[in-house]
Amino acid sequence: MYSQCQNPINSLHIYMKTLIVVSGGDSPGINTLLFHYALLARAYGDTLIGAVQGFAGVLAENIITIEPSLLLPFTGLGGTYLPTSRDPVLRDPIGQQQLAAVVAAHKIDNFILLGGDGTLRHIPPILEALDIPCIGIPTTIDNDVPGTDITIGFDSACNFAHHTIDGILATAHALPGRVFAVETLGGHTGLLALAVAAASGAHAVLVPEYAYDRQWLFERLSGVARHHRYALLIMSEGIAASRTLVDDFKNRFGLQIRDTRLGHGQRGCSPSHQDRLLAAQMAKTAFTALHDGAAVGTVVVHHGQCDVYPGNISQLAPRLPERSLYDDINGLIL
Ligand code: F6P
Repeated sequence: MYSQCQNPINSLHIYMKTLIVVSGGDSPGINTLLFHYALLARAYGDTLIGAVQGFAGVLAENIITIEPSLLLPFTGLGGTYLPTSRDPVLRDPIGQQQLAAVVAAHKIDNFILLGGDGTLRHIPPILEALDIPCIGIPTTIDNDVPGTDITIGFDSACNFAHHTIDGILATAHALPGRVFAVETLGGHTGLLALAVAAASGAHAVLVPEYAYDRQWLFERLSGVARHHRYALLIMSEGIAASRTLVDDFKNRFGLQIRDTRLGHGQRGCSPSHQDRLLAAQMAKTAFTALHDGAAVGTVVVHHGQCDVYPGNISQLAPRLPERSLYDDINGLIL
């Protein structure tokens, strides 16, 4: 599915010391990626080191040597062997100076940076200004990184949702007349919720990017539940009033509604086959880019093809849930 990039070996092969940093939220497939990158580094004679707890760990010189054997037991697990951090330690110039000092002291040639939208927008420009080569790899279940069709972890998070929804649909079929609300993660974005809704045949979907009307939603769900055995609502955690919606429908509207929150189990699930494949391909693409002398870039996928976007992704348009799909699921298209 994800096409091969070119062979990373070339006649002018340079041995490198690369630091891998995981920053922001973890996602399923990060361990697979770390493992594949470590295999490449070993095969081509590079030294690979990793930061323990993101950039906070780098500044504290909490850095370990990475070997494939270390990562092997973790390749099929969610989370990340290298703990991450959301500490914005590079925001101020002192942190940036400390970073430059650590890079010089450890003779680090370049960085591989794993993270989501926030990490990949904000950190590469800082590293570029410090003359530290860096290739970013999009790892987030939210799938909201500009410039790429898909991020590592998204497919696994969708599959996790389907396991739960399959169980809900079984009981929905068995005891008719109820409405089921399922809340996905996704932060302030709804790409994950929309994808899950589209694939599970939901009757309504709510995402933070598009406003909804409570009365309309009540009529839609109660109408569907009356005419079919059940109604299924998928909603992203970031929608307005996500914490009160279900109770409101129950108490004020008398709707027979049951809610399920997928929560962080969705983020920590095992990586799917697609995510493992994507992780292997993205590792190879990033490795090749560094060996080709790239100074800055982000690995992206377009139409199944892995490539490196050479600029700053924060200049690209933000990714939005497809409006026509949203309208279609919600019965808003006549
Ligand atoms: O990394 C993205 C994400 O998983 C969002 O989907 C979610 O809202 C958020 O992180 C949760 O963050 P935390 O683990 O800090 O609660």
